[in-house]
Amino acid sequence: MSKLLTVFGATGQQGGSILHYLLRRPDILKTYRLRGITRDVSKPAAVALEKAGVEMVQADMDDKASLRAAVAGSNAVFAMTNFWETGSAEVEVAQGKAMADAAVGAGAELIVWASLPNVTEMSGGKLSNVKNYDDKAEVEAYIRTLPIKSAFFMPAMYMQMFTHMFKPKPNNDGELVFSVTWSGRCPLIDIRDAGKFIVPALLDPNKYNGKRFTAATAFYTPAQMVESWKKVTGKEIQLGEASDGAWGQGFPPDLLEMLKEVRGLISEYECYGPTGQDDLDWTLAQMDDAATTWERFVQDNQPWFD
Ligand SMILES: NC(=O)c1ccc[n+]([C@@H]2O[C@H](COP(=O)([O-])OP(=O)(O)OC[C@H]3O[C@@H](n4cnc5c(N)ncnc54)[C@H](OP(=O)(O)O)[C@@H]3O)[C@@H](O)[C@H]2O)c1
Repeated sequence: MSKLLTVFGATGQQGGSILHYLLRRPDILKTYRLRGITRDVSKPAAVALEKAGVEMVQADMDDKASLRAAVAGSNAVFAMTNFWETGSAEVEVAQGKAMADAAVGAGAELIVWASLPNVTEMSGGKLSNVKNYDDKAEVEAYIRTLPIKSAFFMPAMYMQMFTHMFKPKPNNDGELVFSVTWSGRCPLIDIRDAGKFIVPALLDPNKYNGKRFTAATAFYTPAQMVESWKKVTGKEIQLGEASDGAWGQGFPPDLLEMLKEVRGLISEYECYGPTGQDDLDWTLAQMDDAATTWERFVQDNQPWFD
């Protein structure tokens, strides 16, 4: 326990999953003690982590002085940002850079940044509005200029999105329909697996310096997803096509444009671009704990339909 790992977003899906997973890894706990960052240490998710043995520290990504104090003494830092909290790429970039600067200032050896591909570059400018990808890539590019070892956690679409937002819903005839805006394969991760993807970098920062971890179990077509739901629940489920409008109801115009381009990002680029399958194969080969399959996720999250 000679080293300290500080995890941002500790009360959220990425950071929380990482901490809860690492708490179950004696080999990691031999090397690292764990610190989690939240704006409110009294919230239930923070209290639960403190009880489980994580040192919970208050800090705000918008407040540089609080970040310096939050990462003091850290050897490794996991940093992420939540685009959806502000909907602003500028805020996300400023927060990401501020966390990275704080990690360097603390003399940390390693930063693991929750990044995503630069979609504007990947698409040759065709898709230039996927801001919540491009801004994370901008922070990644910045981190690569800093005097610190780095690794990049690149999460796919969360399987959890299909437990509510994209779940099959009954149509007017009462038939269950899985409506998606995209065609082809989409990479999926059970976000509770986040820790599994960053363990290699934590255990060997030198070997993985500068590497990207494509954080998905596999690429799945909508038809494959439907097959698992049918098999596990015994229900008949149709495949349908959702309109962009139905998907982004209530969003301001700029974010709606972004969501429309996400359709192209999945349908034409499978989120990660042409090297996606090779990058995923490489990532999975580095891991010592298998990622959760879609079918397992469907089994674990029953009941799905009344
Ligand atoms: N959903 C998907 O399928 C998907 C796929 C790939 C990437 N992503 C990306 O994932 C990100 C969201 O991550 P998540 O799912 O882990 O989010 P989440 O569950 O909503 O958690 C957000 C975390 O960020 C912390 N946070 C937010 N603003 C903060 C601030 N100013 N200072 C300190 N902490 C702050 C929150 O802490 P407190 O509230 O406790 O302070 C919370 O722990 C988004 O940027 C999104 O683009 C999502």
